[in-house]
Amino acid sequence: MAVSFLLAPMAELSHRALRELIEIFGACDEYFTEMISAPALIRGGPFEAWYTDPGPCPQRLVYQLVGSDPEHLATAVSLLTTQECAGIDLNMGCSAPAIVRAGAGVRWMASPDRAGALIKLLRKRTTRRLSVKLRIGMEDDFAYLVEFCKRLESEGVDRITLHPRTAREKFKRRPRWEYVGLLRSALHIPVVGNGDIADARELLRRVGEGCDGIMVGRLAIRAPWIFARARHLENPGAENRPLLPESIDLEELGLRFLELLARYQPREFHKSRAHRFFTYFCANFTWATYLTTRLGRETELSAMAALLSAYCRDHPEERTLRLTASPGPA
Ligand SMILES: Cc1cc2nc3c(=O)[nH]c(=O)nc-3n(C[C@H](O)[C@H](O)[C@H](O)COP(=O)(O)O)c2cc1C
Repeated sequence: MAVSFLLAPMAELSHRALRELIEIFGACDEYFTEMISAPALIRGGPFEAWYTDPGPCPQRLVYQLVGSDPEHLATAVSLLTTQECAGIDLNMGCSAPAIVRAGAGVRWMASPDRAGALIKLLRKRTTRRLSVKLRIGMEDDFAYLVEFCKRLESEGVDRITLHPRTAREKFKRRPRWEYVGLLRSALHIPVVGNGDIADARELLRRVGEGCDGIMVGRLAIRAPWIFARARHLENPGAENRPLLPESIDLEELGLRFLELLARYQPREFHKSRAHRFFTYFCANFTWATYLTTRLGRETELSAMAALLSAYCRDHPEERTLRLTASPGPA
């Protein structure tokens, strides 16, 4: 079976506008939402409809939940299970201090018994694919990771995504990709690998790690065409490969994103989400730090659009990225 390509869950980034942008190029097999707080979802807060917007392809959407209270998570799973989706994922990997202090994210990995009991409970609430995204754990202990995942598997988890770094490492040190294939051989369920994919060729190299899927996060913001590009390289002669232009107009793409943001996200989210996007997208430009800083001072999407256009006018040679010639993440 072909190895799947997946968009990672990323707070303030993995929302409908980004999915729409990636869909222009296609070839992303599954889209994770950003983490959705289980208690907030149950309370039915004013922004939950935006967090759970399933567009543009509900059948390829995976809702990711975060929380520390098993009952909250179980109720949230029951709510989401009524929606059309590809699955429901549980965040056991986030190492942001506020999340860990609250007993959520990677904190679950410190308590195999609690985590096992949680999965048992959630399993009763859904027939959807139930998955978990995690890190190696609090420490670099592969044997512990395997035992932890076997426990989840025995309680009914259908798939694991491993970002092979410890809780403490955040984004430091290289991810231990060798753990992905080793974990896959130790389990009976599919395993997806994630971490530091730098370009389309590396994405394809990771297909050889013996896992069932490759999840891409930050690179998919910088290069929303990355999944399509990887499929092109994988299968140069195939008739059904996705359409991919020879070059990318970065100004047009950035402006398109701002339009999609305005259409698919509430006004209260525009500024933070645009800033987050440009933190990664601007890496396509030589003066990335300058441009990101300038964009970061703007609060209106229209002002951000004007700045991006001005930059491309001043540096016309940077506006077009030729995919075949580019040394970058093409
Ligand atoms: C801005 C940002 C927000 C993130 N939010 C989440 C999240 O909501 N849930 C989650 O499981 N992981 C989250 N992550 C981690 C990513 O899903 C992924 O594991 C990590 O970025 C490594 O993949 P990459 O090197 O391809 O970016 C986030 C990462 C970033 C950079």
